[in-house]
Amino acid sequence: MLPGAGRGAEFALDLGTSEVRLASSQGVLRRVPSVVAMRHGRDGRTPAAIGDKARSMLGRAPAHMKVVMPIRDGLVKDFEVAEHLIRPLLREHTGRSLRRPTVLVAISKGMSEANQRAVMDCVRASGAGRVELVSTTLAAAVGADLPVFDPVANFVADIGGGRTRASLFSLGGAVVDRSVELGGATIDAALATWARTAHGVLLSLTSAEQLKLAYSDGSVLHVRGRDLKTGAPRDLRPEPAEVTAVLAPVVQRIVSVLTELLRSSPPELCADLLDRGVILAGGVAKFELLTQAIRDGTGLPALPVPDPAECVARGLVRLLDDSALYSQSVNR
Ligand SMILES: Nc1ncnc2c1ncn2[C@@H]1O[C@H](COP(=O)(O)OP(=O)(O)OP(=O)(O)O)[C@@H](O)[C@H]1O
Ligand SMILES: [Mg+2]
Repeated sequence: MLPGAGRGAEFALDLGTSEVRLASSQGVLRRVPSVVAMRHGRDGRTPAAIGDKARSMLGRAPAHMKVVMPIRDGLVKDFEVAEHLIRPLLREHTGRSLRRPTVLVAISKGMSEANQRAVMDCVRASGAGRVELVSTTLAAAVGADLPVFDPVANFVADIGGGRTRASLFSLGGAVVDRSVELGGATIDAALATWARTAHGVLLSLTSAEQLKLAYSDGSVLHVRGRDLKTGAPRDLRPEPAEVTAVLAPVVQRIVSVLTELLRSSPPELCADLLDRGVILAGGVAKFELLTQAIRDGTGLPALPVPDPAECVARGLVRLLDDSALYSQSVNR
C-alpha cells in the first residue's frame, strides 16, 4: 500500500451508468445524469453540455453533435468523455485550491486490473490527487446499515442502470460475489426490441425507459415512437399484461444472478439469510415485478432499502465520515 493510503479521502464518486454521484462526509453533494454532448468540429471533439442538458439532447442532437453515455454496463467505457463529466463536479467543490483531493471511487468486483487502473487515471486526470477504491456492494451494504463486520451473513444486491452486483458478506469480507451486465438498461432494450418486432414501432431507449417507469408506477402506458414502415409518428398503448410478458424473461435473468450466488454459498451462511433476507439497492430495486420475482426465486425476504438508487452514495458518505470503517473497507 502507498504511504498514507487507506487513511481517508475528501470526496467519493459513484460512477453509475445512469448517474454520477459525488459525495463528501457531509452528504451526497451532487448527482448528474451520466451523459455528455460532444461537439465534433475541425479541432476534434469538445464537450458542449453535460448532465441533464445533455440528456435532454439524446436522440435530438444535430449531425455535428454526439450525445455520449461514457459509462455503460456499470463500467467506464469512454474515459476521455467521462473526464468531462467528473472534472466540473470536482472543480465545483475544490474551488481554487491547488491541493488535489484524495477521491474514493466505488468499483464493481471483477473489474479487470487494466480497467481499474484506467478508472484511477481518469479520476486523477479529472483533478484528483490520490484515488482509492472500494467495492460497490460493500459501499451499498454500509449505506444500508448492514452489520457487515459481524459474523453473520449479509446478502446485498445493487441492481442499477447497467449492472447487477451481488455479494454475500460475513466478517467484513465478501464470501461470494457476482457482477453481471444486466440492469435497467437491459429492461429498456427488451421493451424497445418488443415494440419493433411485435408492433413495428421504433422506440428510443429514453421512451422505452419511460414506458418501464410508467408500468412500474402503475400509470397509464402510452409512449410515442416511429412507424417502421411509414416513418410517421405512432402511439403505442400496450396492455400491462403484454408488458409483463415481455419483461418476465429479463427479470428472470436478474433473479438467476442471485440464485446462482446462493447455490455457491456455504450452507451455514445461507441459513442466516432465511431471517435476514436479501437487501436490495440500486434504482431497479423500486421495481415491484423484480422484487416479487426475487422473493419467489430465492425463497428469501427481498427488502429494498429506502431511496435505493442513492444507497451506494450513502455508504460512501459513511465511509468518508468514519476513519475506522474506511481503513477496514478501502483498497481491499
Ligand atoms: N420505479 C422504478 N422502477 C423500475 N426501474 C426504475 C425505477 N426507478 C428507477 N429505475 C431504473 O433504475 C436505473 C437507475 O438505477 P441507479 O441510479 O441505481 O443506476 P446507476 O447507479 O447509475 O447504474 P449502475 O450502478 O448499474 O452503473 C435506471 O435504469 C432506471 O430506469
Ligand atoms: Mg450504481
